[in-house]
Amino acid sequence: MVKLKLERQRKGFNRLAAIYDYLLLIPPGRGFIKSQEALIPLLPQKKSCLIIGGGTGTFLRSLIISGKVTQIVYLDISEKMLSQASAKIKDLHQNCTVEFRRGSFDKVAEEEKFDLIITNFFLDLFSREEVKTWISFIHEKLSDEGLFYYTDLQISKGKTLKTFIKNMYIKVLYFFFRNATAISGKTLIDLRTEILQSGFNVIHEKGYLKALFYSAIFIKRS
Ligand SMILES: C[S@@+](CC[C@H](N)C(=O)[O-])C[C@H]1O[C@@H](n2cnc3c(N)ncnc32)[C@H](O)[C@@H]1O
Repeated sequence: MVKLKLERQRKGFNRLAAIYDYLLLIPPGRGFIKSQEALIPLLPQKKSCLIIGGGTGTFLRSLIISGKVTQIVYLDISEKMLSQASAKIKDLHQNCTVEFRRGSFDKVAEEEKFDLIITNFFLDLFSREEVKTWISFIHEKLSDEGLFYYTDLQISKGKTLKTFIKNMYIKVLYFFFRNATAISGKTLIDLRTEILQSGFNVIHEKGYLKALFYSAIFIKRS
């Protein structure tokens, strides 16, 4: 059952890979990139890093150029996303190794630990139960003092027209992604609260485009 679901998601994201970067040209699409890159300068130097659901590799390129990490495992369910990411970093000569892995959490070995784990616009794909599983997986896979770098959409509270438009935009995105890729998330949950309640403290955070996008660096509570 889980395998079947992952296979449908793989096919969906494979279809999307060819147009994904072009979709981000439609406003406020650049916000997806700017928000996830915003906190890179605040990252301390780390050795090993796991990027989950990294997509077409725009963030990967910026992270490598920043020189903040030396070993990256780049995990994505879609081979088409992986091949785009690989192509995007071909011309870089930084001192950083990247291992591309096609699959999901089962592709991370039991004994592996990372100093930094990154999810950008990834946790929003899942139902609340699945999100809890992913966050505890991230907690378990982080070394002591490990950091969790996170960016995602954020629901706004309030009754202004701007809030209404932002929340409508999120609904449209869910409609699109559910149809295009068979994701299981039906609606955006309060991911920041889920993370804080699952053994993390926030050390840096930043809203982008009136907090439609939210980025944070969390540290694991031991
Ligand atoms: C919405 S895209 C975000 C891509 C990128 N992080 C960004 O911000 O542009 C979600 C990514 O997660 C990948 N993905 C979806 N389900 C996955 C899973 N179970 N395990 C690993 N990757 C997954 C998709 O293939 C896709 O590349």
